[in-house]
Amino acid sequence: MAFPQNFLDELIARSDIVDVVGSYVQLQRKGSNLFGLCPFHSEKTGSFSVSPDKQIYYCFGCKKGGGAVNFIMEEEHLSFPDAVRFLAKRAGMEVPEEEGDREAGRKRQRLLDLNRDAAKFYYQLLQQPEGQAVRSYLERRQISRGTAVKFGMGASPDAWDVLLTAMTKRGYTKSELLEAGLAVQNKNGGLYDKFRSRLMLPVIDTRGDVVAFGSRVLDKSEPKYMNSSETPVYSKRRVLYGLNLAKKSKRPNIILCEGNLDIVTLHQAGFDNAVASMGTALTVEQTRLLSRFTGEVVLCYDNDNAGKIATERALQILNNSEFSVKVLQLPRRLVNGEYVKQDADDFIKLQGPDAFERLLSGSENGVEFRMAQVAGKHDLGSDEGRIAYCGEISDLLAGLSSAVEREIYTARAAEAAKITPEAMKLEVQRAFGQRLAREKRAQLRRDLNPAAQLQPRERTLRYENVRSARAEEGILRLLLLDESLFPSQPPLAAEQFSSSLLGRAFAALWQAKTDGRTVSMASLAATFSPEEMSHLTAICQQPESARNGKQALADYIRIVQTEAAKRTGGTQTDPLLAATEKYKDKKGTGGKQHG
Ligand code: UTP
Ligand code: MN
Repeated sequence: MAFPQNFLDELIARSDIVDVVGSYVQLQRKGSNLFGLCPFHSEKTGSFSVSPDKQIYYCFGCKKGGGAVNFIMEEEHLSFPDAVRFLAKRAGMEVPEEEGDREAGRKRQRLLDLNRDAAKFYYQLLQQPEGQAVRSYLERRQISRGTAVKFGMGASPDAWDVLLTAMTKRGYTKSELLEAGLAVQNKNGGLYDKFRSRLMLPVIDTRGDVVAFGSRVLDKSEPKYMNSSETPVYSKRRVLYGLNLAKKSKRPNIILCEGNLDIVTLHQAGFDNAVASMGTALTVEQTRLLSRFTGEVVLCYDNDNAGKIATERALQILNNSEFSVKVLQLPRRLVNGEYVKQDADDFIKLQGPDAFERLLSGSENGVEFRMAQVAGKHDLGSDEGRIAYCGEISDLLAGLSSAVEREIYTARAAEAAKITPEAMKLEVQRAFGQRLAREKRAQLRRDLNPAAQLQPRERTLRYENVRSARAEEGILRLLLLDESLFPSQPPLAAEQFSSSLLGRAFAALWQAKTDGRTVSMASLAATFSPEEMSHLTAICQQPESARNGKQALADYIRIVQTEAAKRTGGTQTDPLLAATEKYKDKKGTGGKQHG
């Protein structure tokens, strides 16, 4: 997996961070850095920065950061070697491939081939006598043959090893079947088919690869739906069922539902822009995927409580994004005097596509949905109810970032509460002030607690000795800022660092310096995980001046040594202490804190 170092160095040198990031994010210069909207989380004001000098990016909002390779890993969802290949292609460089990499690529392709062959196998079985039960089930659910074909549906047989036998005959190994999640191992080590007696729903990504399977039982047994586990080719956070079809839709938006069969029914009824998150809450990764195909999302979750909660969560993710969001609320159905849940599939079957089309065109935006939720909680016929409503609704309205929206919905809320718009407006202003005060207090708490602020986001990287770690960070910053500050011998051993991450980073940078290579943050991408890189990048964002560099370095080194000595219980017997002492003698003072 290791690429030759000189190749990586050249690649990084040829992949300017501003160019690389600039082809995904619109950047604007502010001082010596560039800023834009972070592609890794939803935001309306840019907290994403790019430093041409340091050749790194860093988001002050979501705290992700790194060099060009890290950016491509994150943005294109690629592993380190694949991100390197991606950038190499972009820079027109040939990649010196190692056998191991080609092997990993081949393995991925094998899994995709296996999934495809399995899908074909299930698909063909649906037409055979063994597929009768599934065929009847499709009929019961009014799914036409054409729709089944469009979705590549299939049938898994009522047997323990039919797929296993067929696929091993085609040359796939048992471990490949296990890895693809198509076979399961019993206690004795024997394998059997994971999917049996089920309607098979291949999950196809936007490239057209079969990456996984969803499946449904034909009767009332449990579990109703069984999906592939996570595999090297499938991460459920990053896939939406039906997007392979919906991405070609001519409709102006994408409808997001909970269930796979809701999607099938919607497509059959002409709503070919429907996708499902397969029972999981909407993820940020999925919204990024959606943003490649549409600017408007219509949430159409089930109209039960779980669906309402899912809608609220999805709104939170989508609210601060570029999407315009609508909520399509399915009416509840009255059966024998009781309201029962209804999903898109039920609705279309009972009311028809035209009724759904009407709901779609009349669907509320996110604010209207939330306001209706709040209104539903209070009895607007009573004075107490109206007062409670005003309290809650003003908080919601105060949270709207657009002044126009705030004004329009404030008027509407006043109407609902039967008070004057002026009174409602005052109430919203009060809530707005409270909100600001809350945020200020939270900020103050953060400012007053620098130790907590300093801790890496990633729990596993937490500092045990903040005093030492702070100095260690300073050492790294200085080394990156001006490597000529450093003596010819390493002033510290990696083991003396209290944080093993910072120690390893120091050793890696020092190695680069000794080898005469560029000492840069970006070059660390090969050795450190994305979370580690994000933290190291955050460290580089802290101010550090090279002007008093020598003195600062000496101070930092002494702190690290003192703390290390405390840990080992010994005295400062480091042979390299001399290097530091030398600086101290030259500059005299010492003891002043930097950073
Ligand atoms: P629902 O239970 O709402 O199913 O689950 P549905 O789509 O209305 O199912 P039908 O109409 O009875 O066939 C919604 C989605 O949650 C996931 C599936 O992706 C399903 O489509 N799910 C549900 C599971 O993954 N496992 C389960 O056991 C149930
Ligand atoms: Mn259903």
